[in-house]
Amino acid sequence: MASVTSLTDLVNQRLASALSATLPEASVDPLLRRSDRADYQANGILAAAKKAKANPRELATQVVSNITTGADLIQDVEVSGPGFLNLTLSDQAITENLAARYTDGDRLGVAAKPNPGITVIDYAQPNVAKEMHVGHLRSAVIGDALRGMLDFTGEQTIGRHHIGDWGTQFGMLIQYLIENPDQLSAKTDTDGEQAMSNLNRVYKASRAVFDADEDFKERARKRVVALQSGDQETLDLWQRFVDESKVYFYSVFEKLDMEIRDDEIVGESAYNDGMPETARILEETGVAVRSEGALVVFFDDIRGKDDQPVPLIVQKADGGFGYAASDLTAIRNRVTDLHATSLLYVVDVRQSLHFKMVFETARRAGWLTDDVTAHNMGYGTVLGADGKPFKTRAGETVRLEDLLDEAVQRAAEVVRDKAQDLTEDEIQERAQQVGIGAVKYADLSTSPNRDYKFDLDQMVSLNGDTSVYLQYAYARIQSILRKAGEVRPAAHPELELHAAERALGLHLDAFGDTVFEAAAEYAPHKLAAYLYQLASLYTSFYDKCPVLKADTTEQVENRLFLCDLTARTLHQGMALLGIRTPERL
Ligand code: ARG
Repeated sequence: MASVTSLTDLVNQRLASALSATLPEASVDPLLRRSDRADYQANGILAAAKKAKANPRELATQVVSNITTGADLIQDVEVSGPGFLNLTLSDQAITENLAARYTDGDRLGVAAKPNPGITVIDYAQPNVAKEMHVGHLRSAVIGDALRGMLDFTGEQTIGRHHIGDWGTQFGMLIQYLIENPDQLSAKTDTDGEQAMSNLNRVYKASRAVFDADEDFKERARKRVVALQSGDQETLDLWQRFVDESKVYFYSVFEKLDMEIRDDEIVGESAYNDGMPETARILEETGVAVRSEGALVVFFDDIRGKDDQPVPLIVQKADGGFGYAASDLTAIRNRVTDLHATSLLYVVDVRQSLHFKMVFETARRAGWLTDDVTAHNMGYGTVLGADGKPFKTRAGETVRLEDLLDEAVQRAAEVVRDKAQDLTEDEIQERAQQVGIGAVKYADLSTSPNRDYKFDLDQMVSLNGDTSVYLQYAYARIQSILRKAGEVRPAAHPELELHAAERALGLHLDAFGDTVFEAAAEYAPHKLAAYLYQLASLYTSFYDKCPVLKADTTEQVENRLFLCDLTARTLHQGMALLGIRTPERL
């Protein structure tokens, strides 16, 4: 649609031409940034003057004389300090820019990039027959937000949920199921909690027999062999564990208000057929070598205790393949068949060594190149409010579902407290959106590689950097728009703007640049910080500038227009992060 060049880009262009008129030989970065003194400050002239052995203030004055000023964009420019430029935009340029964004629907004037790549995002990867824990929550929340942001920039994204659906534990589970049929009922179960409790029961019971009974242990071991060699009965039973687990996964993802596509659930087992080929290529190219029967890859810089090299094991001495072989084969698939240009893994930082070795191996094999990059977006541990790894009072790991339920319950208290005209059903519906939003936002607003505190009190607080605060800002704007009745938002570029309106307007202009930057750096917290600042700037605009009681109709319309554009920007930004913005709260 109609894309809008940001004010920052327009100013940059003006400065660039003034700079090249002044210093035709040099290419100077104006180093433009937002400033408190004026709208923007450009600091690049200092370095340019140094290079040209010129007096910076004189050079700056020359550049200023080459800048066209006027109501169309730069209203005023002056030299300050040792040779900075302070630039002030015209009110008209600000309002016209925002008006153009306003007519562009959801995209808000932000153009998609012209040459998008294909990013395969590996996220939300729980394990079959196991409860999901808070770590899986982070992967799902961060991955979903990154995907939303990347999609918005025009990047093509493909999701891969690399679920743990293979391994020797299935020998034990399947053997137990053979000896104790009717313990799982995947076909009829649609209840996620029921599914998980079935799986848990089977897991615990089979473990108990496995630990106590040597004969069972032997039968379980044979079952692993049967599974690996593709025995049909064994595979069918394995499939039942997968199906039952998926019922559970979907129930959690639904609670998280997150869409997961079945064709993107491609677990470890999906790469089984390709693993011998992976091993063959690595061995033939000399990337991997035989060591004590196993096929391994060594790295100069990866050493363990006693300075012994720690290898990546592609194939064990008994011929079995593991986690690394599956990941290496997945890379081949993602690069060759899915034509990925970027591989992104949203996985606990504790697996970073694994990925370092896997990526380096893939580079040596030529699967990763300068054109195909891989990145592990490693996230930190979830801590309790006490700053220690998150546990229940009894010292057990916290069930993800309990946690989400509690967040929703807390949110219900907050919503009920403030609710004026909401029915109980509406309160419950809002509580879902507020509670789940709170959990997601708390996670997304801290830099992902840091540990983060799971503190429900803080998360659902109405003050401070929380999603509830943002949701209330949005809902308050909706209520103003409703109260405006017949008067509709409309831009009036001829009006003079209050300082608070200018600050809000310039920030609204920066939405697209922020999303692009946050997406390129895989940094959802930058978008979260932008949205929080947007809500704060809106609040101070609202405090200082009466909207419905403004002096003239034009003024009312123009302020309603600023309100509405703020709301739409908040809505879009939150949506990219996977968070709802209820119309009423
Ligand atoms: N299922 C794994 C776990 O729970 C995470 C998988 C990460 N993705 C990957 N391609 N290895 O720890």
